[in-house]
Amino acid sequence: MCGIVAYLGKKTAQPILLEGLKRLEYRGYDSAGVALLRDGVIHVTKKGGRIKVLEGILEEPNKSDTIGIGHTRWATHGKPNTTNAHPHLDYTGKIAVVHNGIVENFDTLKIWLRDKGVTFSTDTDTEVIANLIGYFYTEGDDGKWKKQTDGQNKFEWSVQRALHELQGTYGLAILCADYPDILIGAKKGSPLILGVGENEYILASDAAAIVEHTKQAIYLSDNEMVTISSEQFSTKTVDNVEVTKDLQEIEISLAEIELDGFECMMLKEIFEQPKALTMCMGGRLDKQNDKIKLGGMDKYLHDMAGMKRLILTACGTAFHAGLIGEFLFEKLLRVPTEVEYASEFRYRNPIIDEGTFVIAISQSGETLDTIAAIGEAKEKGATVIGLVNVVGSTIARETDGGIYLHVGPEIGVASTKAFMGQVAVLTMLAIELGRRKQISSDEAKMYISEFAKIPDKISSILQQSEHIKEIASANITKENWLFLGRGFNYPVALEGALKLKEISYIHAEGLPAAEMKHGPIALLSDEMPVVFIATAGPQYEKIMGNISEVRARGGKTIVVATEGDDKVKPYADHLITVPDAPEALQPMLTVVPLQLLAYHAAVLRGHDVDKPRNLAKSVTVE
Ligand code: AGP
Ligand code: GLU
Repeated sequence: MCGIVAYLGKKTAQPILLEGLKRLEYRGYDSAGVALLRDGVIHVTKKGGRIKVLEGILEEPNKSDTIGIGHTRWATHGKPNTTNAHPHLDYTGKIAVVHNGIVENFDTLKIWLRDKGVTFSTDTDTEVIANLIGYFYTEGDDGKWKKQTDGQNKFEWSVQRALHELQGTYGLAILCADYPDILIGAKKGSPLILGVGENEYILASDAAAIVEHTKQAIYLSDNEMVTISSEQFSTKTVDNVEVTKDLQEIEISLAEIELDGFECMMLKEIFEQPKALTMCMGGRLDKQNDKIKLGGMDKYLHDMAGMKRLILTACGTAFHAGLIGEFLFEKLLRVPTEVEYASEFRYRNPIIDEGTFVIAISQSGETLDTIAAIGEAKEKGATVIGLVNVVGSTIARETDGGIYLHVGPEIGVASTKAFMGQVAVLTMLAIELGRRKQISSDEAKMYISEFAKIPDKISSILQQSEHIKEIASANITKENWLFLGRGFNYPVALEGALKLKEISYIHAEGLPAAEMKHGPIALLSDEMPVVFIATAGPQYEKIMGNISEVRARGGKTIVVATEGDDKVKPYADHLITVPDAPEALQPMLTVVPLQLLAYHAAVLRGHDVDKPRNLAKSVTVE
């Protein structure tokens, strides 16, 4: 999803904006632009394509430019081209806006503004915001603005007046040519953070653009705005009510968001998984007392242990983690559990009864569909728990309780270590709740002991990366793959298919292995690799039967099996082995070969793994 960076301080703004936008490239975009305010004129430079294309047309930085806004756009309204790129000026040229989100009533507002004689030059919804602010700034509210102000200046008032007309979501950074030392930010439904430095301020969608300047930040909440001047900032609601915001320490470090010698962030994050998992477990695995400690959850754990029903809601990879959660909670706690796509859950008037808990899973904590699902669940009386990775994110703030993944910032668009963290937290939560209600202390002890071994087991799998690259290379021309698994490994098959799709652009489908017979078996040919997760477990013999069915029809098989399994060898055209583990813990192992398979396939096909086409790291629009 798009990136916003804005600067006000003593330094030259242009290089700071560009560096900040580069740190947000992983969020996904199709065009970029900056606006600099100099001598009462706003200078806009913008271009379709990558930031380096924009850099190619920018003038040399001007040292006197110390205030500006920048944007990487992920188009929702209007083609991804130079005209529709942000920043957008209003019809007077006095207001410049960069925007993350969607104006749902932009067409009504566009008609209203056109009837007032306002002209438009782009197809975007965002231009309506610029023109609305510009209209109220120029015309007032039919000239009444002086009477309606309450201590704010005309620029602030015009922004507040315009925001009252908007329906939809926004993260905004706004300039006004008549206020050379004021920058305004506003937030509703899209993230916006203000970095507070030494006599300088950085407004951004994401801490990654701030952390090299300062670790002190405030996180705006919905319907809040911030007015920044060279000496200070003030936070208020869009109704002009002062709000006090506490400065927070940004948790991520620069080193964590840099390549550190790896070819790309995704590969770095795949290889970070043993460390990330250890961080995620840190302080939570109480092996002495065979318990799991989940700080901040104490007030919920007792009720959750006795909950009548559990709903997990998420999108994409987080949804696949939720499916593993379903198996975990039903096995260890015996509670009826269902997993809902957040985009579906939010619109189907879900049934939420007494004793229902909802767990929302999200790496970014900013996925709009998941945020909306949380709102729906809370409206219907559910207690909502958030499992998120980004500290201070919207979901972290809007859920009743929560558990941070603590796997470190995930920059690669294709989620890997965050998925690992999601599954790990769900596993720890299920063990702790199960220990309180359903499973014996010996069983809990076994799971905790086996869980602690997982990071080392992942490390051993990572050593097969070159072997897995050869498997990818042997199948690189195949345009359709099938991923099959059973039980706890069925959601892993879905996740493996998604990984391959989103970065190599090869079509892939994940299925429960037995489902292949109910249709997809018609697709079998030697042109369609079939990836099986056939590790030791209660359904091993069954999946071996599925492998035979595929081989009998000429299908080529890539099999993920348990180390030491000699029986599977004759059935595998390609074999990858993982250490043994209890079935409930296997997903954290069996997913790793599939992550590497997708990574190598994408690289071998010449794709930009960290910036896959059309994708965004955090989908903050519907
Ligand atoms: C996964 O590789 C994708 N990047 C995508 O499916 C992602 O999992 C989904 O958009 C949910 O994101 P979230 O976890 O930040 O809510
Ligand atoms: N809806 C706006 C547009 O299409 C902003 C999209 C974004 O969040 O980047 O330009």
